[in-house]
Amino acid sequence: MVRGEREPAEFRTPVPPHICPAIRFPAMEYIDVLGICGSVRAGSLNRALLLTARELAPAPFRVEAWDGNAEVPRVDATMGRPFPPVVAALRDRVAAADVLLLVTPELNRSIPGAMKDIVDWLGILAPPRPLAGKPVVLMSASPNRFGGAFAQLQLADLLRRSGAEVLSDLDVAVGYAHRHVDDHGVLVGEEPRHDIAELWQRVLTHVQSHRQVVPA
Ligand SMILES: Cc1cc2nc3c(=O)[nH]c(=O)nc-3n(C[C@H](O)[C@H](O)[C@H](O)COP(=O)(O)O)c2cc1C
Repeated sequence: MVRGEREPAEFRTPVPPHICPAIRFPAMEYIDVLGICGSVRAGSLNRALLLTARELAPAPFRVEAWDGNAEVPRVDATMGRPFPPVVAALRDRVAAADVLLLVTPELNRSIPGAMKDIVDWLGILAPPRPLAGKPVVLMSASPNRFGGAFAQLQLADLLRRSGAEVLSDLDVAVGYAHRHVDDHGVLVGEEPRHDIAELWQRVLTHVQSHRQVVPA
């Protein structure tokens, strides 16, 4: 099976990778990564991190930086059914992605409300259950020395409780990030760039070890 001939989402999302790895990562020409940043602030350090992660992702990764964050409504007690259009589109997009990359700011040692809303919307147990078994990579950036590590830990916990498979937390937590971002919003720091590149290699190894072997 190649890209463009994907199986229906309901067959893919709820299957734990350790039970049927071939279904989690069907043979593919590229690895589709959806990147979401938890900040819409102009000059966001985390957006700079997301864009740099996209830049450094080696083939066969293709990283889309999703930009609908500002449109996402708050989750309410009705759980929003029918889902607001932006949420429905996001849920479908995440379900279709091979890997979800969440880049989170840290506020008061925790996840910003915007990121929490996104994860709560994604975690609602209705088809296509976008977080079920979804491989997720976490990154963060902050001006302090911990680089958003507390937010990542909380986000990882939240995601695991929602059924996602967190492939990486704390591998990329860019401390003193304001010192590493240039005027064009590019993360230029050598060390964080090295960490990002290394993390992509690990994710690639993971994906390749789970992908379907196509008979010649
Ligand atoms: C209310 C508030 C609380 C914050 N708390 C933390 C914190 O606990 N840890 C931290 O590393 N940075 C904290 N910060 C600083 C943010 O990490 C910083 O503003 C960062 O640039 C936000 O991410 P962004 O640049 O992607 O928008 C806080 C900022 C605000 C406004």
